[in-house]
Amino acid sequence: MATTTSTASPLRLGIIGSGGIGAIHADAATRAGWTVAAFADAEPARAERLAASHPGAKVHRDAAALLADSSLAAVSIATPNATHRPLAEQALAAGRHVLLEKPAGLDAAECDAIERIAARSRGILQIGLVCRSSPASRVARSLVEAGRLGSIYQARASLHRRRGIPGLGGWFTTRSMSGGGPLIDLGVHVIDLVMHVASPGRALRASGVVYAHFGRPLDDYRFHDMWGGPPRPGGPFDVEDHATALVRFEGGFSLEVNVVWASNLPEGALRDGIVLFGDRGGLSFEPLGREVTLATEEDGHLVDVKPITPPEEGGQAAWRRQYEGFAAAVRGEAPPLATIGECRRVQQVIDAIYRSAQEGREVEV
Ligand SMILES: NC(=O)c1ccc[n+]([C@@H]2O[C@H](COP(=O)([O-])OP(=O)(O)OC[C@H]3O[C@@H](n4cnc5c(N)ncnc54)[C@H](O)[C@@H]3O)[C@@H](O)[C@H]2O)c1
Repeated sequence: MATTTSTASPLRLGIIGSGGIGAIHADAATRAGWTVAAFADAEPARAERLAASHPGAKVHRDAAALLADSSLAAVSIATPNATHRPLAEQALAAGRHVLLEKPAGLDAAECDAIERIAARSRGILQIGLVCRSSPASRVARSLVEAGRLGSIYQARASLHRRRGIPGLGGWFTTRSMSGGGPLIDLGVHVIDLVMHVASPGRALRASGVVYAHFGRPLDDYRFHDMWGGPPRPGGPFDVEDHATALVRFEGGFSLEVNVVWASNLPEGALRDGIVLFGDRGGLSFEPLGREVTLATEEDGHLVDVKPITPPEEGGQAAWRRQYEGFAAAVRGEAPPLATIGECRRVQQVIDAIYRSAQEGREVEV
């Protein structure tokens, strides 16, 4: 059950993890009306740096000290994937409201463990599936709900990068810390979007293949920029850099997933994003975009419909809305925008794809 916080004063937020996404959380929360009041990072200098651009924010020596700060209404957890479960459990056990970055855990079993603690906590738990809040995703969902696609029978979900391995040699490329490569990192966003927008029912079976062809040896990797900091020479890289899968759902719906951190991909060869095929209409959109194109028939003509969305850039709007939604959930005015149960269903699909790739055959989800 959520504790109700007064709407009269801005909600105070503490952020655990002051890396690349911690900074985006701090900015988005501020734009959504939160007071960003505290930071903690395993490398305190990072928390100090981020606090410098948020006047009045306190730097705690570690996550435990931040969680003990009773002036905070809520905490965001923006740390490496393997720390999500323990930190979320500590925060929820302390009765804090929690915004937990994706993926919620390393696998579905970790999601189950978090869900059990959340069910007993006074705090509410929202998962950081931020793409749900983009203008494009919201429009797509409303078109589906209005029946404009008819019966949806297939979806494609893709994100391809040419040279986009994050933090090569660091936690992102270390399976025990990340849970996997692009499938868990990017796949969690796009698989969730398909399930959130198209509501396809239960996933039944998955067939997946993963590859690892880039960044080994690390010195041979040519790139322009790198999320998650520069390469760490000698660091591990034991996850895939490319994953492809076909997932079968009840009722005949199928999902094709292609998520790639690195590839030799000619410019413009592919359009990324979500595509939904329905018997009355089909649509495509980018996960953090503004625009949706609906292809349909009207009055005997083939037409493309482009709903008009507000001018704010898609990613910015999504991040602001994620924190507006979290505030509404903390105040008891609305349910969280993304629940741990929904995240577990996505994670079950991801776990099955990894299992299928390992066993070289289609497996049950
Ligand atoms: N929603 C999105 O679109 C999106 C985008 C990027 C990353 N992420 C997620 O955000 C999380 C962090 O990613 P990032 O890119 O910021 O990584 P990062 O490596 O840039 O930052 C992680 C930070 O966490 C700190 N840290 C590690 N263990 C800690 C602990 N126990 N307590 C406190 N601090 C700790 C590190 O020192 C580091 O500063 C990951 O789970 C990632 O999947 C989400």
